[in-house]
Amino acid sequence: MTKPILTLLLALVGSVAAAAGPGPKLLNAGTNISDTASLQRGAQLYFNYCASCHSLQYMRYSRMAEDLELTEDQVMKYLNFTGAKFGETITTNMPVGAGEATFGGEDWFGKAPPDLSLVARARNDGPNWIYTYLLSFYPDPSRPVGWNNTVFPNASMPHVMWDRQGVQVLVQQTDDAGQETTGFDLIREGSRSPEQYRQDARDVATFLEYVGEPAALQRERYGLWVLLYLLLFTGVAYLLKHEYWKDVH
Ligand code: HEC
Repeated sequence: MTKPILTLLLALVGSVAAAAGPGPKLLNAGTNISDTASLQRGAQLYFNYCASCHSLQYMRYSRMAEDLELTEDQVMKYLNFTGAKFGETITTNMPVGAGEATFGGEDWFGKAPPDLSLVARARNDGPNWIYTYLLSFYPDPSRPVGWNNTVFPNASMPHVMWDRQGVQVLVQQTDDAGQETTGFDLIREGSRSPEQYRQDARDVATFLEYVGEPAALQRERYGLWVLLYLLLFTGVAYLLKHEYWKDVH
């Protein structure tokens, strides 16, 4: 009797494992969208390092300001570099098609930088994927952009935060079990220590996780109030019941 159940369970476990599929081993970013300071730092990095290429077409400056507890002034001064209005969605400076067009006779990116509104949801294990991606660039002269990435091989995106991380090269390592693995060796320091750069990558991943589902933030914030309300309402209902049935008994 227990055997079919066991088989079923094993099949379930198997299919879950298969759904995760092969792919790069992702690091655990440990993002937390309720961490407003992390969201603010992530937004600042995003607008300084990413927004020139990637739009966030479903996010408005005004909405972001409210959710990230920033004033209109702060957003318009420090984060909006396109001259867009406060109520408008986040576009890039890059003219449409520029990413695919040729630039000075050379192929530029070969690909248009995609909108990143939903990337944290579209990618399997999105926040961890983004985090690991930002930590996995290495120089590769054979690529048109001069960089390659172990998480997204042959990506047409340069390592835009290299001034912060520094330059790391790909090295073959042998782990304790004698297995060959690839790792990185930092050959040139950036403006941030490795730990600080991991925090940068975590902040950007947190910001993009929030952008992918802004409602999740509100759900978390309102959740407590909803619970309190329900508790209060239960109390009121109980008192009412007491009141109604008083004369019947
Ligand atoms: C110079 C332009 C440029 C900048 C700046 C840039 N990117 Fe990109 N990015 C690209 C291009 C081009 C691609 C498409 C790569 C491909 O498909 O080969 C891309 C792809 C991506 C992807 C993968 C999207 C997917 O296909 O799922 C992510 C995530 C991403 N970028 C994040 C960032 C973040 C975060 C920053 C800022 C730290 C950033 N990018 C800055 C050009 C840029």
